[in-house]
Amino acid sequence: MYRTHTNGELRIENADSRVILCGWVQRIRNLGGMTFVDLRDRYGITQLVFDAEKNETLAAEARSLGREYVIQVEGNVSERSAKNPKLPTGDIEIIVQNLTVLNASEVPPFTIEEDTDGGDELRMKYRYLDLRRSNVRSNLELRHRMALEVRNYMSSQNFMEVETPVLMKSTPEGARDFVVPSRMNSGRFYALPQSPQLFKQLLMVAGFDRYFQIVKCFRDEDLRADRQPEFTQIDCEMSFVNQEDVLNTFEGMTKHLFRTVKGVEIDYNFPRLSFAEAMESYGSDKPDIRFGMKFVSLKDKLSARDFKMFDDAEYIGGICADGCAAYTRKDIDQLTDFVRRPQVGAQGLVYIRYGSDGTLKSSIDKFFSTNDLKAIAEQFNAKPNDLILILAGAKKKTLSALCELRLEMGNRMGLRHRNSFAPLWVIDFPLLEWDDETQRFYAMHHPFTSPKKEDIALLNSDPAKVRANAYDLVINGVEIGGGSIRIHNGDLQQKMFKVLGFTKQEAENQFGFLMNAFKYGAPPHGGIAFGFDRWASLFAGIDSIRDVIAFPKNNSGRDVMNDSPSTISDAQLEELNIRVVEKKA
Ligand code: AMO
Repeated sequence: MYRTHTNGELRIENADSRVILCGWVQRIRNLGGMTFVDLRDRYGITQLVFDAEKNETLAAEARSLGREYVIQVEGNVSERSAKNPKLPTGDIEIIVQNLTVLNASEVPPFTIEEDTDGGDELRMKYRYLDLRRSNVRSNLELRHRMALEVRNYMSSQNFMEVETPVLMKSTPEGARDFVVPSRMNSGRFYALPQSPQLFKQLLMVAGFDRYFQIVKCFRDEDLRADRQPEFTQIDCEMSFVNQEDVLNTFEGMTKHLFRTVKGVEIDYNFPRLSFAEAMESYGSDKPDIRFGMKFVSLKDKLSARDFKMFDDAEYIGGICADGCAAYTRKDIDQLTDFVRRPQVGAQGLVYIRYGSDGTLKSSIDKFFSTNDLKAIAEQFNAKPNDLILILAGAKKKTLSALCELRLEMGNRMGLRHRNSFAPLWVIDFPLLEWDDETQRFYAMHHPFTSPKKEDIALLNSDPAKVRANAYDLVINGVEIGGGSIRIHNGDLQQKMFKVLGFTKQEAENQFGFLMNAFKYGAPPHGGIAFGFDRWASLFAGIDSIRDVIAFPKNNSGRDVMNDSPSTISDAQLEELNIRVVEKKA
């Protein structure tokens, strides 16, 4: 037997029992004739003691151990004289009688017990050592518990997990595909799925009724803290449902995960916000509603006062920060710099300070009288001690800048607690988005999303106005999931392809198999997919999804541990009939 117990297991009740433990040497301390070793495994840390007075040979062996050596010890559990209340095993220690070195270790590039030791690049290069750290490991344990609870809930609701292919046809709508050359079919390529969207719809045609899958998806897109080139979805689809059925089912799953994994009971219906309302009130289709500070639109109140910044603006809007009137000149300057950053993109910031004595002071005193300022403050329901912040400019850009400013103020005012959660559904997304560069419409969600029945007529006359049966689950400003009720009628699907600028032939080449399937009795169906990594990082209280993924890629899509992507041999290229052409500088 390699071990009788793990290193997180032994308690005072085990005193005097004989045990065998295995693990990694985390730390060695020599105090007089005594040597103490912290032995670590996935479950915890147990203190080992070697007493030179009792056995000098054994104590010398212990002193020669190095960090991260893998050892096995046999000994007796003993009550500690100096207990460590911070460790679950802190009441006991092992008086070691036998020590076996199972494997030596080189000196690791960073210390495992010090969570912050080692830069990002180094941590990723030696990810297997980084994973020995308890915080990364506990994120993956959390992720495991979430996956288990997703499977429990979905199975209890009659959903069936079905695997779908990873090598599939390239259908580059949305992000770029990762492609894989086929040796047996020279000059042809598979694509890695951006999502199993088409397969899950085919499973509905096949009569599977309720499908789900925890599945890897691949997208060749620019990376950010919440984006990886390969990521995991909880992918779901249901037949004979309308939007309401889908939202209720997955609100149920969301509450189940909160209850079972986070111990958070959500006993209310998730608020629903239309895309249009979300944009007007928060400047974003993924608003963080842990706090208020909704936008107030001011264009009709503030123009025509010979103040150019306002008079020229397509949109003027502001927020009211409760109790922030004490912000100093320096604070305001910092906020002005913040909104002027290229990522935020505003020209300048206007403020109105509502003093505790009821006086109003602003950066636009020259153009607006005290009465004007009072009228503006009323629009915000402002009180003494509040600070009103206003931006103006082109509408889309200014809404987005105001969104950034609101989130920044939320951070500064401590309103975005990691342990408070505010889920909501954003609904009624537009079906289509116009792209100036390519001069065509794109599907805002994907080409299989159905338009609202009452808007179908607009597909010909005013496509931009058509709303979709599409919805997102947003929690704390993060888009956790998105889905839609699908088109299940072949003619409407053809029409959609036409609006998206596909010729009949292009639609046939790319999606012919789906259109064929639709000829054989496609049931009404709809579904949703959740970003599992994003959800896990939200539950773990961290910003980057990399820390809930065992082996993530860096920001250039590289795995620095195994040095991929890498070149392949000439023989491999030959077999694939592929020639690599040097990129011109
Ligand atoms: P969508 O493209 O909205 O929908 O993706 C669903 C969810 O997946 C997560 N996500 C990502 N997570 C990490 N890295 C990425 N690169 C990444 N891209 C997306 C987000 C997102 O909400 N087939 C449809 C779903 C459907 O209609 O049922 C789809 O894939 O959390």
